[in-house]
Amino acid sequence: MTAVVKRQWERKWAGVRTADLSGMTVVVTGGVRGVGLGITAAFRAAGARVIACARREPEDLPDGVGFTRVDVRDADAVEAFIGGITDLDVLVNNAGGTPYLPMSEGDARRHAKVIELNLIAPLIISRAANRVLQRRPEGGSIIMIGSVSGHRPSPGTAAYGAAKAGLDNLTASLAIEWAPRVRVNAVTVGMVRTEKSALHYGDAAGVAAVARTVPLGRLAEPADVGDACVFLASPAAAYISGASLPLHGGGERPAFLDAAAQASTAPPTNPQQTSTGAAADADTPDREDNA
Ligand SMILES: NC(=O)c1ccc[n+]([C@@H]2O[C@H](COP(=O)([O-])OP(=O)(O)OC[C@H]3O[C@@H](n4cnc5c(N)ncnc54)[C@H](OP(=O)(O)O)[C@@H]3O)[C@@H](O)[C@H]2O)c1
Repeated sequence: MTAVVKRQWERKWAGVRTADLSGMTVVVTGGVRGVGLGITAAFRAAGARVIACARREPEDLPDGVGFTRVDVRDADAVEAFIGGITDLDVLVNNAGGTPYLPMSEGDARRHAKVIELNLIAPLIISRAANRVLQRRPEGGSIIMIGSVSGHRPSPGTAAYGAAKAGLDNLTASLAIEWAPRVRVNAVTVGMVRTEKSALHYGDAAGVAAVARTVPLGRLAEPADVGDACVFLASPAAAYISGASLPLHGGGERPAFLDAAAQASTAPPTNPQQTSTGAAADADTPDREDNA
């Protein structure tokens, strides 16, 4: 970790309060672990009331966080859940993920279910939330948790990449349909360090090697995603709608730069060729039970 990144890191964890959202009610789908728990914690730190949902109730939750058991793919259950939260201000569509499954393998229905979780479910729950938010005196906001996989080829998780790409387009369309009372935005997330990082990148050495491919020198923390969501939900973002905010630490370095540097015997003329890091295969969350 460079000195600059270390300083930014220490400042981040010095308890910086990003916004005051006290009095707001926020629903975070899948807000009980991984990225979702970081989002839940960030909204709590900003003073909001949070209701998280998932299929399995967690053993413990941060103080002040409510929980409802719901499968976001079940339209009737989602309507009942969201319709009952009449003071809703913000919905964060975080529940999502995919197993690694090349498109020519497995049952076609497994691929279709990945689209169902990552695109159809946010569509259904956003419709339910919009009905509530349109009646709120101040309107409200909806935030989609997207992925860099929707912005580049996603081999091995093609249905996931396609769904996340669709989520961006859905965001842009809903921002127009539901304006001016409801703002709709997305956060386009790169690799995040969660409980499951070892599944994707191996041990600490594997995570560190992957982190070196990120321009900012580390994977995102769930709290980074949470902070971006708090900003998008806050009055500071009152004029932002239809946006996809990249949260990827600078993005993926084009692989050809390193291929050329490694294959060439000539000394590099472009300083970029001397830095390390090939494009990493970003998030491929292992959600076997959703496929
Ligand atoms: N991790 C990364 O590196 C990364 C990178 C880019 C984007 N993202 C995005 O960030 C979001 C969260 O990813 P994650 O890595 O934190 O995933 P995760 O650890 O698998 O957590 C997913 C959460 O969603 C819930 N969930 C899954 N399916 C559900 C369903 N059908 N109904 C209700 N809740 C459901 C899970 O709880 P239950 O299983 O109990 O239902 C869990 O709480 C996803 O949208 C993912 O695409 C992640």
